[in-house]
Amino acid sequence: MKVLLVNGSPHEYGTTRVGIDEIAKTLQAEGIETEVFWIGTDPVGGCIGCGGCGVTGRCVFGGIVNEFLDKAEEADGFVFGAPVHYAGPNGNMKSFMDRVFYAGGHVFRLKPGACIAACRRAGVVTTMDDLNKYLSISEMPIVSSTYWNMIFGSNAEQAKQDAEGLLTMRNIGRNMAYLLKCMEAAKAAGIGKPAEEERVWTNFIR
Ligand SMILES: Cc1cc2nc3c(=O)[nH]c(=O)nc-3n(C[C@H](O)[C@H](O)[C@H](O)COP(=O)(O)O)c2cc1C
Repeated sequence: MKVLLVNGSPHEYGTTRVGIDEIAKTLQAEGIETEVFWIGTDPVGGCIGCGGCGVTGRCVFGGIVNEFLDKAEEADGFVFGAPVHYAGPNGNMKSFMDRVFYAGGHVFRLKPGACIAACRRAGVVTTMDDLNKYLSISEMPIVSSTYWNMIFGSNAEQAKQDAEGLLTMRNIGRNMAYLLKCMEAAKAAGIGKPAEEERVWTNFIR
């Protein structure tokens, strides 16, 4: 079993990464393979709503979004981490999430996920809520912890001093490992994913 952990920060080894590494370490101790996927510093660019992904299941702009989706097909669980920028996820991560989930939302169906947020002082809860929206519209079981999924610090060194934040991260890892093992046991017992009904689209005018 494998979990992909997305670092949405422009800092490869910043505050967000401290949280991600703590989760990864815990998952590894539970026998689960991990891979950190850093979205980097190049502009990701937002979704333009062209609908091209509706045909191919991949974003017409390619790049790291499709690179991630290819890896996501093989993964069993996910962690999405972002630093707080103005009380929400940083812009690059928001663009990444829009394009990943619009193009490949089906990839995540019934795979557990957790979202974490890192900040200096405030905005982690709104950021976590924002990120969780992608999971809750994609039939993903959301993995929770003993506090909301946050870690505090202006940089990695400070984050390593946030004892409760680190504990929160480890509990995400343990809870995700437990859920993944339960799902594997269910599969071995012949319990498959529930059937999907044909999709119905309505809007406010009819
Ligand atoms: C553009 C920008 C906006 C920020 N907005 C907030 C904010 O609203 N609240 C906060 O507590 N910290 C804010 N910060 C600080 C970062 O969240 C903080 O430094 C965090 O540790 C960065 O994580 P990283 O090292 O993973 O990038 C902001 C930083 C930047 C660059």
